[in-house]
Amino acid sequence: MATANIHNNTIAYESQGTGSPVLLIHGFPLNRQMWQAQADALAKSHRVITADLRGFGESPMGTGEVSMQRYAGDLVALLDHLKIDEPVSVAGFSMGGYVTFPFWKHHANRVRSILLVDTRAKADSSEQAVGRRETAEKVQSEGSGFLIEAMMPKLVASDTLQNRPRLVAELRAMMESSSIAGIAEALHAMANRADSQNMLTQIDVPVLIIVGEADAIAPPNEAEEIAKALPHGEYCLVPNAGHMAPMENPDAVSAAMQEHLSTLSL
Ligand code: MLT
Repeated sequence: MATANIHNNTIAYESQGTGSPVLLIHGFPLNRQMWQAQADALAKSHRVITADLRGFGESPMGTGEVSMQRYAGDLVALLDHLKIDEPVSVAGFSMGGYVTFPFWKHHANRVRSILLVDTRAKADSSEQAVGRRETAEKVQSEGSGFLIEAMMPKLVASDTLQNRPRLVAELRAMMESSSIAGIAEALHAMANRADSQNMLTQIDVPVLIIVGEADAIAPPNEAEEIAKALPHGEYCLVPNAGHMAPMENPDAVSAAMQEHLSTLSL
């Protein structure tokens, strides 16, 4: 693990492999470890950067309000720190996808291609946003245990929940390691995030949409709509996986990502 001083805060990250750079952005309430299988696979042919967003994993919260744009700004500053000025492929998983949209909007010249994994372009409905803000308050007063238990059945396919206790335990441990402040701030930031649907037709780089067939949070029908709205969108449905497709079916997700990345150099 390495750290960088970014915007008066510390960002923990890893950079592995050499070649065209790929940035992997984790989801909520997780950390860069969720991408382990993909980072290992892609690092055979690419430079892979995984980072913990502020408040998650080994990155402290820092000060000030968080937004999807601010997370994106931290990552652009991390690329600057690493002296990566060529455009990168940006892969965002779920909340990481919500970060990828402002990343592209405000730093399009840094983006070579986009991989959207189990994510949504829609903003929260007002009802969802109210729910997130209430959850943020409850997490601050009671801790994150109730949230983790409520999320678990939505994060993984029912087969995973019943038959893969090690994966479930790994996921639970990752969520338990997330700081209360990080979780609460991210909930507010997700509730406040902009709708990115109007942006889709303007994204002029290749985009791969990956989604687990049993994703209950960012369902395949929404992923298909995103792919159709994009000028250069490809769609990949991952079997035997729910929302956590990168962990539930890591080989299929890594293979789809590798295939996308290999077409860029043609
Ligand atoms: C995630 O996996 O990042 C979250 O479930 C996204 C969300 O709650 O909208």
